[in-house]
Amino acid sequence: DHAVKDSRVPQEQWGSRIGVVLAVAGSAVGLGNFLRFPGQAAQNGGGAFLLPYFISLLVLGIPLCWAEWTMGRFAGMRGFHSAPGVFSVICRSPKARYLSVFALLIPLVIYMYYIVIEAWCLCYAWNYATGNLMMGRDAAAYESFFDSIVGVKQDGHVFGAGRSLLVFIGITFVANFILIYRGVANGIETFCKFAIPMMVVCALCVLVRVLTLDRASVNEGLGFMWNPQPEALLNPKTWLAASGQIFFSLSVGFGVIINYSSYLTKKDDVVLSGLTASSMNEFFEVCLGGLITLPAAFMFLGAGVASFGTFALGFNALPNVFAQMPAGQLFGFLWFFMLFLAAITSSLSMLQPVIAFLEEGFNLERHASTTFLGILTLGGSFFVIYFSAGLKALDTLDFWVGTLLIFVLAMIQSVIYGWIFGIDEGERQAHIGANMRIPRFVQYMLKFVVPIYLGVIFIFFCYLNAP
Ligand code: PFF
Repeated sequence: DHAVKDSRVPQEQWGSRIGVVLAVAGSAVGLGNFLRFPGQAAQNGGGAFLLPYFISLLVLGIPLCWAEWTMGRFAGMRGFHSAPGVFSVICRSPKARYLSVFALLIPLVIYMYYIVIEAWCLCYAWNYATGNLMMGRDAAAYESFFDSIVGVKQDGHVFGAGRSLLVFIGITFVANFILIYRGVANGIETFCKFAIPMMVVCALCVLVRVLTLDRASVNEGLGFMWNPQPEALLNPKTWLAASGQIFFSLSVGFGVIINYSSYLTKKDDVVLSGLTASSMNEFFEVCLGGLITLPAAFMFLGAGVASFGTFALGFNALPNVFAQMPAGQLFGFLWFFMLFLAAITSSLSMLQPVIAFLEEGFNLERHASTTFLGILTLGGSFFVIYFSAGLKALDTLDFWVGTLLIFVLAMIQSVIYGWIFGIDEGERQAHIGANMRIPRFVQYMLKFVVPIYLGVIFIFFCYLNAP
C-alpha cells in the first residue's frame, strides 16, 4: 500500500524553524540571483523586464511556492519525502509517481552544470585571494583568463589550459558530498545558517563599493536596469524569460521545496516560512544582484551589456571593474567568495530530492545513496565539461532543462494542487500551524490563473521555438 510509511528508512527532520527557512532561502539564492537575473534583464529590455518579472512573482512564484510547501509537508507527515512518493500520496494513486520523473531529473541535470560554474567561482575567489587576478589589470588578460577557465577557445580546452580548474571542481565536489552526507539538519541546515549571513555581509560590502564608484556611470547603469523600454513588453519572449527566471530563482517547480518541506511537522508555519524564504530571495535578487552586477558591468561595457553573455557579465566584465577600484582585490575576492557560497547552498538542494528518492524507492540508507549519487554526478559533470565547447553546452542545457522542463513540471504541479489535491484541502493543510492566512483569492489563482497563464506561455514558447 503506497500510503504506508516504510519504517526501515529513518525519518529526518529540520533542527529549527529558522533553519528550514534559511535552507530554502539558500536553495533559492544562487547564481540565478547574481548572474542569471541581471543577464536576463539585460537581454530582455532592461527595466521593461521588471514588469513581467514582478507579475510572474505575484501570480506564479509565490502561489506555487505556497502550494509546494503545503503539499510537501502533507506528504511528509504521511512518511513520503521524494517526489514520486509525494505525488502518489497526493493523487492517491501509485501511478502518479511517473509524473514526478522530471522532479528528479531537473535538479540532477542542473546540478551537473551548476557545480561547474560553482567551481569557477571558487577558482576566481582563490585567484583574487592570492593576488593573481590583480596582476595584469588589463582587459585582454581578464578575457584570456576567463577563456582558459571556461574553455571557450577550442584549442585551449578545459583539460589543457584550465587544468587548475580541475582542482576546484574536485574541491567543490567534495564539499557538496560531505555536506549532503551529513544529512538535512547536520549538513544542509548547519551550513546554510552560517553561509547566508556571510553572503549578506559580503554582498553589502560589494554593493556599497559599486554604488559609490563614479557617479555618472552608476546612474547610467541603474537607469538601464530600472528605466523601462516599453517596446520589449510587446515581445512575448520577455514574458517567457521573466517567468522562467522566477521559477529558476525561487527554486519553484523543481521538486526541491516539496522535498525540503516534507521534513516539517504540523507545528510548523508553512505560510510564513514560504513567504519569508521567497522574500529573502527577492531581496538578494533585486536589491543585491540587480544593483551590483548590471551597474558595475555597465561601467565597463556601456550599452554593450545587452549583448554580453550572462556568464561573461560576472566573470569577465566585473573583474575589469574591480581592477579599476582601490582595494579591488578585496572586493573581487568578496564577490566571488559570496557567489561560491550562494552556489553551494543551491547545489546542495539539487541533490537532496534524489537522495530522498533513493532512500525511499530503493531502501538505500543515506550514506550509500550519497556515494552512489556522488559517482553518478561526477561522471555527468565531466561529460558536461569535456564535451562542452565552452559556454555552449551550458547554455543549451540551461535552456532545455532550466527553462523548458521547468514549465512542464510547474504546470503539472499546479494542476495536481488545484484539481486533484483540491484548493479546499490545500487551504486547510496550509493553515495547520500557521500564524498568518493566505488570502482566499490565491487559491483560485492556483486553480485557474496559474495553469492558464503557464499554458499560454508554453504555447508561445513552442511557437517561438518551432523550427
Ligand atoms: N534557485 C537557484 C538559483 O537561483 O541559482 C538555482 C536552483 C536551485 C536550481 C535548486 C534548481 C534547484 F533545484
